[in-house]
Amino acid sequence: MVDRQDDAGGETTVRVELANRSYDIIIGEGLLSGAGPYLASVLARPRVVVVSDETVAALHLAPLQAALNEAGIQNDAIIVPAGEGSKNFAQLQLLLDQLLELRVERRDSILALGGGVVGDLAGFAAAILRRGIDFIQLPTTLLAQVDSSVGGKTAINAAQGKNLIGAFYQPRLVLADVTALSSLPERELRAGYGEVVKYGLIDDFAFFQWLEENAGQILAGAPGALRHAVAVCCRAKAAIVGRDERESGDRALLNLGHTFAHALEAEAGYDGRVLHGEAVSVGLGMAFTLSTHLGLCPSQETERVLRHLSAVGLPTGVAQIGLSGLTVDVMLNHMRQDKKVTDGRLTFVLARGIGQAFITNDVAEGAVREMLQAALEPASAAKG
Ligand code: GLY
Repeated sequence: MVDRQDDAGGETTVRVELANRSYDIIIGEGLLSGAGPYLASVLARPRVVVVSDETVAALHLAPLQAALNEAGIQNDAIIVPAGEGSKNFAQLQLLLDQLLELRVERRDSILALGGGVVGDLAGFAAAILRRGIDFIQLPTTLLAQVDSSVGGKTAINAAQGKNLIGAFYQPRLVLADVTALSSLPERELRAGYGEVVKYGLIDDFAFFQWLEENAGQILAGAPGALRHAVAVCCRAKAAIVGRDERESGDRALLNLGHTFAHALEAEAGYDGRVLHGEAVSVGLGMAFTLSTHLGLCPSQETERVLRHLSAVGLPTGVAQIGLSGLTVDVMLNHMRQDKKVTDGRLTFVLARGIGQAFITNDVAEGAVREMLQAALEPASAAKG
C-alpha cells in the first residue's frame, strides 16, 4: 500500500497493491465534476455505462456526465431503485439485460455511482457480464467511501441472508469525492459513521480517540475531517486487502460486528427499516459485550464503545432499530448463514480492548446465547 498526499490539491491517493489488479483510491473534493482525466487514464476505451440509483442520479449524474462529455468519454446511464431491496436477482437480471441491450463490450467500463447497494450490484454485474468487464467505483456515501467501494467484494442478497451471492472482483479505480457527502441525509451519514468507528475498534486506538474528539465535525460534514477519516479508513482497508484479498485470514477483521449486523438486516428483510451502518453499530456493541462476557475485554472498554456510539446518535440496542420481537434462536439461525462459518462453526471477531480485535472460532454457544438473551430481551434477562 502506498499513500501520497498532494497538499496543493488537498488530495490523498491510497494504492491497493494486488499485483496486476492494483488500483488507486483517490480521496478529495470535486472529484465527480472533475472525473474526466482520472477516468481517461484507466479506461481501456472511452466508453462507459454509469449505474446509479434514483436519489444519487438526481444529485450527481448531470455533473458526472458533463465531465465525461468534456473528456470525450461516450456514456449511457442505467438507474436502479434506491435501497437495499435492489440487491436481488430480479434487479441484477434487469441490469444485465439493459447492459446487453446497450451492447456493452468487453473493453467498456461500468461506473458505479452511489452507495454500497449500487457498488455491490453494479460490481457484481461487471464481474459476470461477458465474463468480466472493468468497473470503477464512484462512492457517494460515507459507508461506501470508507468500506464497500474498496476491496472488491460485490454481491446481491439471498432470502437466506445478506451478500450470499457474489464475487471478489476489484475495481480499476475508486474516486471518493467527499463533497458528495454534503448532500447525504443526516441518517445516512451517521450510519456510515458506524463503519468509520469500526476501523478504530479493530486496530487503531489513536483513531478512535481522534473520533471521540472529532465525530461532531464529521457528522457536520466538515470536508477536512471527512477527508482525514476517509483516508485513514481506506489506508487501513487497503493494507488488509493487500495481504488477504479473499478473506482467508486477517480480512475477516473487517467484519467486526458484521455477523450480528447481517443477522439483524436479514431479520428486517432488507426493507429499508434498518440501514447497514445502523445494524453494524448494534453489532459492534454486541461484539464488545460478548468479549466482556467472555472475560476477554475490560467492561470499561465496552462501556466506552457503547457510550461513543450513543453519543453520535447511533443505535446500540435492537429495540432502537425496531426489531424488539427478535428471539435468540431466530438470531442464531440467521448467524449460521454467515460466510465465515467453517465446518458448521461460527467465526467471531472479538476484542481484548479498543483497537485490539482478533478472530476466533472458539466461542461456546452458551456464551453467545447468554449475550443475545440479554441484548434481545433485556427486561426478562434482568428479572431472571
Ligand atoms: N466490508 C468488509 C470487507 O470488505 O472485507
